[in-house]
Amino acid sequence: MKKRSWAEPYKIKMVEPLKMLSKQERLKAIKDAGYNTFLLRSEDVYIDLLTDSGTSAMSDRQWAGMMLGDEAYAGSRNFYHLEETVQNVYGYKHLVPTHQGRAAEHMISKILIKKGDFIPGNMYFTTTKLHQEMAGAKFVDVIVDEAHDPNSEYPFKGDIDLNKLQALIDKVGADKIPYVAMATTVNMAGGQPISLGNLKAVRELTQKHGIDIVHDMTRVAENAYMIQQKEAGYQDKTVAEIVKEINLLTDHATMSAKKDALVNIGGFLATNDPEVFQEARNMVVVYEGLHTYGGLAGRDMEAMAIGIKESVADGHQRARIGQVQYLGDLLLKAGVPIVKPVGTHGVFLDAKAFYPQLTQDEFPAQTLAAELYVDSGVRAMERGVVSAGRNAETGKHNYPKLELVRLTIPRRVYTQAHMDVVAESVIEVYEKAKEASGLKMVYEPKYLRFFQARFEKL
Ligand code: F0G
Repeated sequence: MKKRSWAEPYKIKMVEPLKMLSKQERLKAIKDAGYNTFLLRSEDVYIDLLTDSGTSAMSDRQWAGMMLGDEAYAGSRNFYHLEETVQNVYGYKHLVPTHQGRAAEHMISKILIKKGDFIPGNMYFTTTKLHQEMAGAKFVDVIVDEAHDPNSEYPFKGDIDLNKLQALIDKVGADKIPYVAMATTVNMAGGQPISLGNLKAVRELTQKHGIDIVHDMTRVAENAYMIQQKEAGYQDKTVAEIVKEINLLTDHATMSAKKDALVNIGGFLATNDPEVFQEARNMVVVYEGLHTYGGLAGRDMEAMAIGIKESVADGHQRARIGQVQYLGDLLLKAGVPIVKPVGTHGVFLDAKAFYPQLTQDEFPAQTLAAELYVDSGVRAMERGVVSAGRNAETGKHNYPKLELVRLTIPRRVYTQAHMDVVAESVIEVYEKAKEASGLKMVYEPKYLRFFQARFEKL
């Protein structure tokens, strides 16, 4: 059969014009932003690949849903639609909406963690780990070694290493481990999926010891698509079926609906445990709002319910992840060092390989994100030593093995031509990499420093 290309399963109804600054203006903008792409004005950005969080395009169905917002303080119709969707599509019994993912992380950490506990997880995520620590726990990375190697082609780099998990249980005792934190997909490893085979094994081991699984399901549908593509035995299952199968192996879930679920704001905590539900419903009124809106407008919950259903359609994921893979392939063909295999929500540049002349104390990934912006107005995000923060006990920098710059692709927003432009710019920055010098940090916030830290050129 002759090759048939695929295309996006939608057409464009509304456009948002882009602005492009001159190189001189970009040089000034990044300097004024303290060489931190989080501190740039969005209007000064040409193609915005900072994050896929809250940046996706909603469908006409979702926008129509916004008009059906029931803005009652209590008992909004949209809450019940969302609750039914979470039960039917995701398979969790109880729902507590929140304004975004970290609010759900805050609550589940407070509810399940006692001071002195340990939380094993498949690599850390910035906000997730901070909430675990603030609740009194120590995070322990139990992801497979392959996840820390940008060149390993292992297809399920999100998997948990069962030996590492067992070793932690043996060392600290199961009663000091309230739950395993399991993310689908693993953001900091490069958007890498877990396999169902591994999750089943983790489930078996944890159940034996009475340890729960908290599922960070922020990109679960993307993970499900990768399982369908790569894990033996799942080729004939739909993304929707695989999503449910994953969720049914876990006890609680935190969701940032700003990713998979195709909304600009929203999240939730879901659980199958009636007692955890009771506590979360009580806690949400302190931090977020009543348990039937959790910091969201009714219209936001409606858009989320519709977005969740759209997110588990095979055709949607094929185009979404297909676009990410397209960009990855362009860079691989040009010999640019990126995390392999290409993950689901972005392409991750290996800043250590770009700049062998820089030590991690000179912030190679922060430098690369700034250089890319200056070259073309493309905004990316540092995911290296700045994001990893400091060790809570020693106060020293954490030095992650992965020093990455993330080109994160919003869903349904940019075209293949935008991807071509991004690739051309990355290739040019790579060709000039020898000339780059690093940065020094001149302002460091106490929490989640990557968001607001400022730098100067060395
Ligand atoms: N978990 C994962 C895996 C995430 O990627 C994020 C957010 C969160 C939790 C927190 O959710 O932002 O709604 O509070 N990630 C964004 C990103 C910020 O750019 O990767 P939130």
